[in-house]
Amino acid sequence: MFVAAGPRGALLPLALVAWGALAAACGSKSTAPGATPSGDGGAAADAAPADAAPPSYPVVTLPAEPQRAGDPKKGYQALVNAPYVPCGIPRSAYDRVFSAAPADSRLPDRDPASAALPYNFTAYTTKEGVALVTSNCLSCHAGRLQGKLVVGLGDAAGDFTSPVAQQKQIFEAVGLLLTDPKEIAEWQKWKERVTVVAPYNHLDTRGPNPADAFTATLFAHHDRKTLAWLTQPALPVPPPQDLPVDVPPWWRMAKKNTMFYVSAGRGDHARHMMTASILCISSVAEAEAIDAWFGDVRAYIASLAPPKYPFPIDQAKAARGKTVFDATCSRCHGTHGAGGSYPNRLISLPEIGTDGLLASGTAQFAGPFVEWHNQSFFGQTARLEPQQGYVAPPLDGIWATAPFLHNGSVPTIAALLDSTKRPRYWTRTFDSSDLDQVGIGWNFTVVDHGKDGESDGKKKAELYDTTRPGYGNAGHTFGDRLGDEDRASVLEYLKTL
Ligand code: HEC
Ligand code: HEC
Repeated sequence: MFVAAGPRGALLPLALVAWGALAAACGSKSTAPGATPSGDGGAAADAAPADAAPPSYPVVTLPAEPQRAGDPKKGYQALVNAPYVPCGIPRSAYDRVFSAAPADSRLPDRDPASAALPYNFTAYTTKEGVALVTSNCLSCHAGRLQGKLVVGLGDAAGDFTSPVAQQKQIFEAVGLLLTDPKEIAEWQKWKERVTVVAPYNHLDTRGPNPADAFTATLFAHHDRKTLAWLTQPALPVPPPQDLPVDVPPWWRMAKKNTMFYVSAGRGDHARHMMTASILCISSVAEAEAIDAWFGDVRAYIASLAPPKYPFPIDQAKAARGKTVFDATCSRCHGTHGAGGSYPNRLISLPEIGTDGLLASGTAQFAGPFVEWHNQSFFGQTARLEPQQGYVAPPLDGIWATAPFLHNGSVPTIAALLDSTKRPRYWTRTFDSSDLDQVGIGWNFTVVDHGKDGESDGKKKAELYDTTRPGYGNAGHTFGDRLGDEDRASVLEYLKTL
């Protein structure tokens, strides 16, 4: 039987699938009109190579929009206890495969039914009385640092490389553990949805996240007006494509006016955040019930502060670094600390020069899906307006958020600030204690070949190959012209944020 055939870990990919799907909401992207210059007059002098006539780029400032008030405490309670992704695996099947989560995978202040579940699962009993284990935001939005779980840190060790056929076998295997007709009905509902998502829930590389590739499929499988689930998609869905995204830390939302790397998330942030429920919901009424308290979840997310750098800092060096940072980096990233200000700038693709796949709109993120969103329940208060560029993020807690750039293509800040040091092919241990305290980021090993030259499956999945589409590590060369001393002091300063 399943339990004998598959060890405990065999259900893990299943968990990732379900959770991947709920992140769908987090990653909607689309081709859309280009950014509009706001003309605040800043010139992009240091954005160009130090050659003859540096091009000038439009300065795009992303405006603040009103957000719903909410109670951060209630928001945390809802985040860890409420069934906002209301479909999943019957609890009886779950309990046959998994025992109680170890202490370091549990969360404080959970309801009794969820208390012994790992942080990324939430218990839910349906109206019909079926006990389920559902997924939640933290499978992607909690990560480990030195072994300790940090809520709001993007998971940089996620593994979405398991083959689609294997995912589907696991979905089927859950059914073998069930006999109760009501449980079987819930399993079938869940299975149908995760099966639709499975082909899009796949990346060839461990670390980055496929969430941005799901949304189109889930939009297509819901009626735009009623949100009823459609077995056949109402919109043509393009074939699956690797679209690697590094999960951003939540604490940035304290400063950011828009959500997502390409600033697609406009309007009511809480409504964007609750879009994750689309994996399971089948009606506007269900969506409204969840939306009613998502203002609290947003308030919690916007209240988060980054973890403090845990190792010694050379304060004098950091103070020199602040001066260099404020002169070289702050026009995009803002100034930090007391009296700091954050400009909410979108940097166009030609100016930033980083991998363009996410910001150019892949096939599945084309106009029809943005339209679907903006004309649906979600579009009532929130808008998707993806741009052809990337937001320069606030750098609070940046020491904790390796790897760097939107696709996680650069393992350390030292390499980000000197593009000649960026490894073309690299790997890491995925051990959250394997931190590089000098370069800031993950310790990494340079590999002398790309994925095509690797025959070992595990090594291949753990090899970051920057020559693959979407995985490029070019651009953001603003640190290249710093002298070694200035660069080192900027690194020291970044530890203090
Ligand atoms: C399967 C992984 C996954 C799950 C589950 C998930 N997200 Fe995300 N989330 C992402 C990724 C990836 C991004 C970045 C997408 C982008 O910017 O293109 C993101 C972006 C965000 C952002 C924007 C951050 C920023 O700096 O712009 C917020 C806020 C967020 N998610 C909240 C949530 C909430 C709340 C939930 C649960 C209801 C959730 N996410 C579930 C993967 C996930
Ligand atoms: C012209 C605007 C601009 C300037 C100047 C600039 N940056 Fe950036 N920076 C960006 C943008 C945009 C991104 C996101 C790019 C992406 O993800 O593809 C970014 C990303 C980063 C990241 C990675 C963030 C993450 O979570 O992956 C770090 C670290 C960073 N910048 C540091 C610096 C430092 C230090 C300087 C000064 C030496 C600097 N930047 C100068 C625009 C700028």
